[in-house]
Amino acid sequence: MKLVIVGARADGQAHVVLECIEESGAHEAVAFADETPRLKGQQVLGLPVLGDPNEVAQQVQELGITGAFVAVGDMQARARLAELCSSMGLSLPTLVHPSAYVSLHAQIGAGGFVGAGVVVLPGAVVDELARINAGTVVSHHVHVGGANTIGPNATLAGRSSTGAFVLLGAGCTLLPEVRVADGVTVGAGAVVTRDTPPNVTVVGMPAKPLDPERTTA
Ligand SMILES: CC(C)(COP(=O)(O)OP(=O)(O)OC[C@H]1O[C@@H](n2cnc3c(N)ncnc32)[C@H](O)[C@@H]1OP(=O)(O)O)[C@@H](O)C(=O)NCCC(=O)NCCS
Repeated sequence: MKLVIVGARADGQAHVVLECIEESGAHEAVAFADETPRLKGQQVLGLPVLGDPNEVAQQVQELGITGAFVAVGDMQARARLAELCSSMGLSLPTLVHPSAYVSLHAQIGAGGFVGAGVVVLPGAVVDELARINAGTVVSHHVHVGGANTIGPNATLAGRSSTGAFVLLGAGCTLLPEVRVADGVTVGAGAVVTRDTPPNVTVVGMPAKPLDPERTTA
């Protein structure tokens, strides 16, 4: 499938996503779309930037593009742009790096990304638009919520789960069966030992709210 990558930050997810597409050989990246006006008409990582995703429907059609992958770190923006792509009739494929292991008994939702060296074990369910970054372990029967950003090098122990729009920092650990609620940020290196309330930032070992007055919502 010919793909447009939405989000053309050359030193960000765009590069990681493009490399994954190239290495997996499953699809062909044809162009970028990006909301940044100065990028329109530029070449990024060897591909043309067509322009703002809201304004590229005709070019996308002319280039024979039938799918989109949203390579944007901001989780809310990712969901918004994926919705836009769907409304243009574009498919949202799942990307899995060839060095990842994904169990035959795991599910990865539309627009999901599984990076280099990730392990996803049986019974795991990863919802749509989630990013599982390099080296993360998603253990058995874990549920990763929609539009999450996970890792790199995080460990989600068996039957743990996350809500929607959760960010798990690099190298953090969820103990078995722990539930991280919607909108939570888990700091890098934290160990989450208990269920969290929604929309908080937790850090440390054991993980505690960074500031009880503050929310990530
Ligand atoms: C937890 C986090 C979100 C806080 O970011 P922030 O709101 O900008 O907070 P600040 O950097 O201002 O730090 C606030 C305080 O928390 C401490 N802190 C920050 N991150 C921490 C962490 N991961 N563990 C423990 N303490 C941390 C800081 O030292 C600071 O303490 P102080 O007030 O005593 O000086 C961030 O530091 C973090 O860990 N993000 C994870 C990023 C990541 O790994 N992304 C990978 C996905 S690709």
